[in-house]
Amino acid sequence: MIEPGHAPLAVAERLDSHVDSHVDSLLAGHLETAAELLRVAGIEDPERAARALAGHVFGDERVEPRPGDDRLETFFTLVERRCRRVPLEHLTGRARFRDLDLLVGPGVFVPQPETSCVVQRAVDLLNELIAGGQPHPLCVDLCTGSGTIALSVANEVPQARVHAVELDPGALAWAARNAAHHQLAVTLHEGDIAGVLPWFDGSCDLVTSNPPYVATAELAGVRPEVRDHDPAVALTAGPDGLDIIRSVEQAARRLLRPGGLVVVEHSDRQASSAPELFRRAGGWCDITDHKDHDGLDRFVTAARCDAPEGAPTDDPRMGGALIYRLAALAERRTSPPESGSTPGA
Ligand SMILES: C[S@@+](CC[C@H](N)C(=O)[O-])C[C@H]1O[C@@H](n2cnc3c(N)ncnc32)[C@H](O)[C@@H]1O
Repeated sequence: MIEPGHAPLAVAERLDSHVDSHVDSLLAGHLETAAELLRVAGIEDPERAARALAGHVFGDERVEPRPGDDRLETFFTLVERRCRRVPLEHLTGRARFRDLDLLVGPGVFVPQPETSCVVQRAVDLLNELIAGGQPHPLCVDLCTGSGTIALSVANEVPQARVHAVELDPGALAWAARNAAHHQLAVTLHEGDIAGVLPWFDGSCDLVTSNPPYVATAELAGVRPEVRDHDPAVALTAGPDGLDIIRSVEQAARRLLRPGGLVVVEHSDRQASSAPELFRRAGGWCDITDHKDHDGLDRFVTAARCDAPEGAPTDDPRMGGALIYRLAALAERRTSPPESGSTPGA
């Protein structure tokens, strides 16, 4: 049940005394106790966390748990783990992101609310293209993780053709689960974004990305929920945190058609350095930095302004959660793959 020696002493004591006491109150009473334990442990928005864990354990049921009800023990075990900064989303197995309930767990980055502003810009652009007479714009999401951006775009702009790229096969398996869970047509590709999807060179309308962007030396200051539970490959990106954004810029420069847009999330300390990286690279117009819903500098957009090399081609097979294993395709990089496979296969 409660694992001793992990929770702060005050929390552990109160938890023990609670569990030992007669369980004779309504769930509301348990919620209050849980929220208080979470507050003492320094958890942000303890009431919301308590309600989410109760919802996970008890479902919609709001009747009095009877003494000996195993679910009560389960509930307070989860509360205690949350007190030790295990992410709420790992405890419930889900992350709410815009209109989607994404399946998440150890091995994949937990979607963060600030990424919603990246999706909003992507959705707006795709809708503008559709309204302008382009019925099926092509969007590539780089560093897709659980599929946060790609699946949201596919959900909100069903006419768009959406491809997503992820290096880590474990993370990509979560994206595949989410695509299947929500029945969304996103084509998944396993591989490094460097040199990815060469058959799309010069033909994409939109490239999105929320890449790793924590500077190595800043990792210690990151929230424990993220630092200790998200995969390392999802977090750090070299001494200035820009290593993967540099790769995203290069991939987007190659993939986008003239006039195509790239939308890239960055840390709130990269409002100058991320746009500057695009300016220095050349070939970009309208480089603009944007704030998130909390008013923090959060993402850069840039439009491809000169014609990239290479003849644009397209992959005619869309939909489903196919994963193209790019490493195996390195020999024939100029044409689309012949077959796909599913994660974990
Ligand atoms: C910060 S997470 C974001 C995941 C997702 N976009 C989201 O917003 O929830 C970054 C993701 O990039 C992936 N990644 C890191 N380096 C990569 C690379 N060179 N090529 C492709 N994916 C990469 C990581 O595995 C991780 O899943």
